[in-house]
Amino acid sequence: MNSFATPTRQTPDAAMLFGFWYRALASERVRHNRLQKAMLLEIPLVIGRDAQGRAFALRDACPHRGMPLSCGLFDGQQLECSYHGWKFDAHSGQCQLIPSLTADQKLREDRIYAGAMACAEHDDYIWVFVPEPGPAGAGATKPEEPPMPAPRVPTFSSAYKLAYLTADMPVNVDHGIIGLMDPAHGPFVHQAWWWRSRHSIHEKQKAFEPIPKGFRMSAHTPSSNSAHYKLLRLYADAEFITTTIDFVLPNLRSETIRAGKYWFSSLTTVTPITRNRCRIDVVAAWNIFRWLPFGPRLLKFVFGKFVEQDRRTMELQAEGLKHDPHLMLIDDADRPAKWYFQLKQAYMDARRNGGEMRHPISGPVTLKWRS
Ligand code: FES
Ligand SMILES: [Fe+2]
Repeated sequence: MNSFATPTRQTPDAAMLFGFWYRALASERVRHNRLQKAMLLEIPLVIGRDAQGRAFALRDACPHRGMPLSCGLFDGQQLECSYHGWKFDAHSGQCQLIPSLTADQKLREDRIYAGAMACAEHDDYIWVFVPEPGPAGAGATKPEEPPMPAPRVPTFSSAYKLAYLTADMPVNVDHGIIGLMDPAHGPFVHQAWWWRSRHSIHEKQKAFEPIPKGFRMSAHTPSSNSAHYKLLRLYADAEFITTTIDFVLPNLRSETIRAGKYWFSSLTTVTPITRNRCRIDVVAAWNIFRWLPFGPRLLKFVFGKFVEQDRRTMELQAEGLKHDPHLMLIDDADRPAKWYFQLKQAYMDARRNGGEMRHPISGPVTLKWRS
């Protein structure tokens, strides 16, 4: 009997990974010269846009005595704390003024920083780079330069449409992520007459391979038990359709479907908000049915149904998880979930020991399950 035949006890520890980009807020929620609160990895943030429309993010606590900066005034360039009027540059967080100082007092306010974080905006979202926490009591400095650019939705032509949707999940980030990569819940949770019923369940076999900090379900012709793939093949006049699904730490799932010159892609993220809450954001891009005016609305409707089914399921699951039951993961259907935990562990080990991250998947693997 091989070691994979026994279920693995698994209790998600909900450890949150620092040193990565995270989606903070949908762009349309942050207006010019206004301040908006957000929360990422249990860090309260204030997010805004300067007079030129450039987004910024700061820890929502004044470095003086902790007043939320989101309670202060913003003139399009500087934030003024509402408690003692200290002023900070919105992008660098550098202190520009301490009104209580007299002319002969020598405190260098420019050495004081509010905790600014690197910010990027694209594909309808504001992304924030959440650095590793500094040593306790060290205070904030200039925002850290991120080692990599913020992730993007894959695109394959210059013209395309874009839509997003977002849903709060009352579970920790690990349950959010493994819920997303779990193939076996489909026939039970995602039933719809235009999609599939639980009676369409059948055996599937998929090829996986390791990629940096993650794994890929390799390109293949999608299974024919869903109507929309049949339709797509007909419409695109393509011989076959290839689908690639990647999962990459800390929380990125990208899916690309290509049929001839047509394509559809999405980048889904599961963002840790607090230890017990996460948020799923799906951004999709496509050049299929581009001229149809209801394209984005139809897509939002379809995706919205799926995400709502997942959200409702996780809401119920949260009830069951309240009192810390023992959990297990089984092969092969839960193997991606096991990989996720192993990747996370390998990443944290590498961080701690300073070495290269040891990839838990040694080579291509084929997984089988019924769904
Ligand atoms: S708490 Fe912000 S200026 Fe004092
Ligand atoms: Fe789902």
